[in-house]
Amino acid sequence: MGYAPQAIIDHAALRHNLRLARHAANGRKVWAVIKADGYGHGMLRVARCLRDADGFAVARLDEALQLRQAGIDRPILILAGCYTHQELNQAADAGLQVVLHHRQQLTLLQETGVLPRPLSIWLKVDTGMHRLGFDSDEMPGIAQSLRNNPAVGGLNLMSHLATADDRADPAALRQCALFNSLDRSLFDACSLANSAGLLGLPDSLADWVRPGIMLYGASPFLDTTAEEEGLRAVMTLRSRVIAVKHCRAGEHIGYGGAYVCPEAMPVAVIAIGYGDGYPRHAPSGSPVLVGGRRLPLAGRVSMDMISVDARSLPQVQVGDEALLWGKGLAVEEIAMRAGTIAYELLCGVNQRVEFIDLFSEGESDGPRR
Ligand SMILES: Cc1ncc(COP(=O)(O)O)c(C=O)c1O
Repeated sequence: MGYAPQAIIDHAALRHNLRLARHAANGRKVWAVIKADGYGHGMLRVARCLRDADGFAVARLDEALQLRQAGIDRPILILAGCYTHQELNQAADAGLQVVLHHRQQLTLLQETGVLPRPLSIWLKVDTGMHRLGFDSDEMPGIAQSLRNNPAVGGLNLMSHLATADDRADPAALRQCALFNSLDRSLFDACSLANSAGLLGLPDSLADWVRPGIMLYGASPFLDTTAEEEGLRAVMTLRSRVIAVKHCRAGEHIGYGGAYVCPEAMPVAVIAIGYGDGYPRHAPSGSPVLVGGRRLPLAGRVSMDMISVDARSLPQVQVGDEALLWGKGLAVEEIAMRAGTIAYELLCGVNQRVEFIDLFSEGESDGPRR
């Protein structure tokens, strides 16, 4: 390992988390959600590792086409759907399935006429998130018109949960109730659950579940840790100590002099910063694991480095490994400290970080992203 940050991607953990999702899904089919470059883990890497998923869900056509070009032949669902005739043709040609959530998309499909192949449509109903989707009372009419459209192959129903991460909030139950009250005979299959729905709301399971964050080993809930949910961290972000300073009492550390040393103390400087995707808003006190100790961040996060209070590890040396999150330090903890969510931190790890695949025995594929 050099002195630059690395993200170690644990393939066995990824597959473990999919198995856990499958177990919770209890026979339902699983769309593994791998948009946003597989939540920052590398979309192709994740797709290849999770080849046992029943299908992959991405946000945009480009992501889906990239998967097809890489030879991924599983069902692929485009969660935001298509916006032009050309996109619809490309989607049909590549055998993709598309969400239809807006009247404009409906008109587009009606106007497009013959497609290279009939398209499998997931009609999105707004059950309470008020982001994408048609009103529930529009469903029968729209479903009927789609059934009469020769460009439509399968016709399915989907919706998305807004608050399932917060078990105390009854809104998700109301969303489930509305979803489950719709006439399913109009549709070939239905899908509602995200990770939190899958693990916490049996009424949301329907025919297909759509787990994302849990596959990467972060808890989808506000009140439980990944470990408590039986999930294993997939990404371990690590780097090394590149300098050790011995500061005097009263000296200020880093930009803005935001941290003042309360006493004479060792300060370790670690090669990771917001230029790599470590959150700039992580405040002093946020933990970094060095030599098995949780050393608190001291002062502001810079573009390429952070400083930590090494009083509990006076023997710290240049070259020591530092773990920013992953096994032993939950990404959710750092996210909470930084006032954000694990999703954002994982998606934010960028190309400057070297990605390394940790394969289990007998496994060898898995390209770098
Ligand atoms: C439509 C849709 N379904 C499923 C998911 C997966 O959600 P989660 O990562 O919370 O499991 C997402 C993620 O944002 C989504 O937008």
